[in-house]
Amino acid sequence: MAVHLTLDNGDLADTYEAISDTQFTKGCSLVAKLAIKPGAAVLDIGCGTGRLGRHVLSLLGPAGRLVGIDPLPDRVNIAKEKNEYANAVFQAGNAEDLSPFADSSFDKVYLNSVFHWILNKDLALREISRVLKPGGTVGITTGARELNTVTGLQIITDTVLRREPYRQIVNIAECAHIQHGLTTTGLLQLLAAAGFRVDEVQIQNSVQVYQTPREVTLFQEASCFGNYLNHVPVSLRAQAKADIEAELERNRTGQGIQFGHYTIFAVATKEE
Ligand SMILES: C[S@@+](CC[C@H](N)C(=O)[O-])C[C@H]1O[C@@H](n2cnc3c(N)ncnc32)[C@H](O)[C@@H]1O
Repeated sequence: MAVHLTLDNGDLADTYEAISDTQFTKGCSLVAKLAIKPGAAVLDIGCGTGRLGRHVLSLLGPAGRLVGIDPLPDRVNIAKEKNEYANAVFQAGNAEDLSPFADSSFDKVYLNSVFHWILNKDLALREISRVLKPGGTVGITTGARELNTVTGLQIITDTVLRREPYRQIVNIAECAHIQHGLTTTGLLQLLAAAGFRVDEVQIQNSVQVYQTPREVTLFQEASCFGNYLNHVPVSLRAQAKADIEAELERNRTGQGIQFGHYTIFAVATKEE
């Protein structure tokens, strides 16, 4: 099922800004791995509402420069509104077309919870390599597709979609995270093919805890910018969401509703 960049709206963008703590925490860990120094030129691809970008700006000092790009206008608008730094630019843009930026113009590029959404990943990495200075680094966090069925929300969702009335109609493999997500080795192969030296690759399991099933689906809707459950026919989507929420409720423990998620953290360098 194709990923659409036209299904977002102001409410989803506001919700994402308000409840994206999980992504923000991962992003801060990624940024720490990149060891961004004051004065660096940094490109944040898929900057969303700019929350992580604002954290990076606090590290860059006035001599540094941050450009955040995202294809969703509602998210870029929030990033612009919330920005208080003169050395930051948030603008519309797509990972597969970095033509607004000159060759060798950034020290660091990062994509936090973005890479699985990019349709032409090979092209995006070649563009990233072009705009990075020799010796510059790219940092990526993304889901580890090979572990989707070991723990997490995917298992709960698929349990529901394997039942009636979805069983014959929904192709689970068409879920955006499966279709466009990538395995750890797949990511390493893509980085190598684009000419990067992989410095670090790590898989972290984070446990996410929610108090209500609705919090889970609300976050998914906001995080998928309108693409949540887009492999389920529109006529069944509301029912599927209600059934997933009921299944989440069945998974409640004393701590709330919790499940793990495996995230790949990768850092790679453009060879000098
Ligand atoms: C889950 S959000 C992550 C936002 C932000 N990086 C963060 O850490 O909170 C995924 C973002 O990827 C962006 N995205 C999707 N496809 C993209 C593409 N081809 N190029 C750049 N960004 C893209 C979406 O617009 C969305 O804002």
